[in-house]
Amino acid sequence: MINLDTSQDLNPLEIITIDGPAASGKSTLGQRLAQALGYLYFDTGVMYRALTWLALQQGISMTDEETLAALAEKVPIEVTPPSKEDGRAYDVWIGNQDVTWAIRQPQVDDNVSIVSLYRGVRQALSAQQRRIGLRGKVVMVGRDIGTVVLPEAGIKIYLDASLEERARRRCAEMQARSQNVNYEEVLQSIRERDRIDSTRDIAPLRPAEDAVYIDSDGKDIDQIFEAAMQIVCSRQKQSS
Ligand code: CDP
Repeated sequence: MINLDTSQDLNPLEIITIDGPAASGKSTLGQRLAQALGYLYFDTGVMYRALTWLALQQGISMTDEETLAALAEKVPIEVTPPSKEDGRAYDVWIGNQDVTWAIRQPQVDDNVSIVSLYRGVRQALSAQQRRIGLRGKVVMVGRDIGTVVLPEAGIKIYLDASLEERARRRCAEMQARSQNVNYEEVLQSIRERDRIDSTRDIAPLRPAEDAVYIDSDGKDIDQIFEAAMQIVCSRQKQSS
């Protein structure tokens, strides 16, 4: 289990979790919230993606659970402020290699949910995420943050949208990066990832019981941000 000691003066209301299916807008919302509050933004999907990219590079089989778990224990993933103005919100490094865009390739999309199934992989990455989260003043984004990684978080959001809306948003993101886009392929890839993520035995994608559900269909980012800020402010005010 990933039961690291909880710091005594931890304020749960300074830990915000955002979970939800692929391309539901978690990253955009998380970054906006973190910036407004002066908190750290941490996207846990980056870690699963970086591990998957490295495993593909090294020719490791996606069914080789033991080797993937061992790699998860030692892969030196770092997320640092952006070093280039090419649309990135941050740099992602494996050792001294900049993998910021490499981890967004379709080949990673198509394999990341398999790598994320394995207990040893999840244990290694979740422990690192939990350590970062327990420092507080953090917005952490993923699939199992409110349920497994940081269940003591005081503010939990589950951000959802229809499959079609999410596929449209992902296509727009890819087009902005000049990637080749096929709407049907993107939709299928997201659908398959959601299926695997929500039906797995360990830490499946689902809203925490105490999460606030936001349906982002038909809402723009400003409206979603306002809704989330209202939740955060009213919770933090209630307790002060
Ligand atoms: O950005 P997008 O919503 O497409 O996905 P992501 O957040 O980058 O996550 C990529 C994949 O990593 C997910 O489809 C999950 O399989 C896995 N993941 C996970 O299992 N647990 C997390 N906390 C975060 C991501």
